Amino acid sequence: MTAAAARTAGGYRAGELTVHRVPADVNAVSRGVGGAGGRAPRVPTMAALHVGGGEPTGHAGRLRGPAVTAVSIFVNPLQFGPTEDLSRYPRPLEADLEVLREEGVELAFVPSVDDMYPPGAQTRIVPGPLAGELEGAVRPGHFEGVLTVVGKLFQIVAPEVALFGEKDYQQLVLLQKMVRDLNFPLSIVGVPTVREADGLALSSRNVYLSDEQRAAAPTLQRALKEGASVSARGAEAVLTRAREVLAAEPQFDVEYLELRDPELGPTPAAGRARLLVAARIGTTRLIDNVPVQL
Ligand code: PAJ
Repeated sequence: MTAAAARTAGGYRAGELTVHRVPADVNAVSRGVGGAGGRAPRVPTMAALHVGGGEPTGHAGRLRGPAVTAVSIFVNPLQFGPTEDLSRYPRPLEADLEVLREEGVELAFVPSVDDMYPPGAQTRIVPGPLAGELEGAVRPGHFEGVLTVVGKLFQIVAPEVALFGEKDYQQLVLLQKMVRDLNFPLSIVGVPTVREADGLALSSRNVYLSDEQRAAAPTLQRALKEGASVSARGAEAVLTRAREVLAAEPQFDVEYLELRDPELGPTPAAGRARLLVAARIGTTRLIDNVPVQL
């Protein structure tokens, strides 16, 4: 198919957001435009992947990156456990699409669950042992669901570069490993965590917080920052300081606080490291992480 035909078939027009619901359409658009010699292959070069959405400004902030041209919006049932918040997860599609228009995104892929997982679909991408630690220890099967859907999205959208947030640091590391281990022909770029003015990392789940919980939530980030600030005194000092700050906030139920190497192996003796935390506040789970130089 020529690029022009692909543009007509897929409804792609430069500078305008088109919304695709069917994988085959997106595939045609991506490949057609990617093969065009004449104009910049904008659609398939970048993708930021996204489920659900939250507050419009937060969403925009999270997506901002170098010339993001394609975004998928799909709440992936495969990565939610049976007791998790799949049914109440925010899905403000029209607001999300408006943000994409403002951001100059040209292609939105918004499939249905049936489009992504037609009856009989059963193949999965199985991550390595890291997927059973940290987030994976409390969310069994979560990363298998993430890798499977992202692997499918990579096949469908065929990006050259895909952006993922450092906010979900373990997800970022596992996806980098997947791309390396399975030879996906693309590169993954990590985007630094976007935060509210008070330090709370933007998250779709922040809308679940009551006023009182919202007021306490930035303590999570403060604990990490204070821990990182004593890194010259070594790993134990970092963990102790962060633990003290967390303990002073009675609304937190801390699930883990760990200092790991940048690939999430054991704590290094010196050099670059990552301090990661997960805590429940009421029924809402919050995660955050910061880099640490030991
Ligand atoms: P979701 O939670 O919607 O996040 C979509 C992307 O935005 C992810 O790469 C995530 O790391 C990034 N992100 C979220 N909050 C951020 C923040 N405050 N700052 C920077 N980036 C942030 O993560 C997922 O969806 C899913 O697991 C997905 C990869 C789409 C697979 O279903």
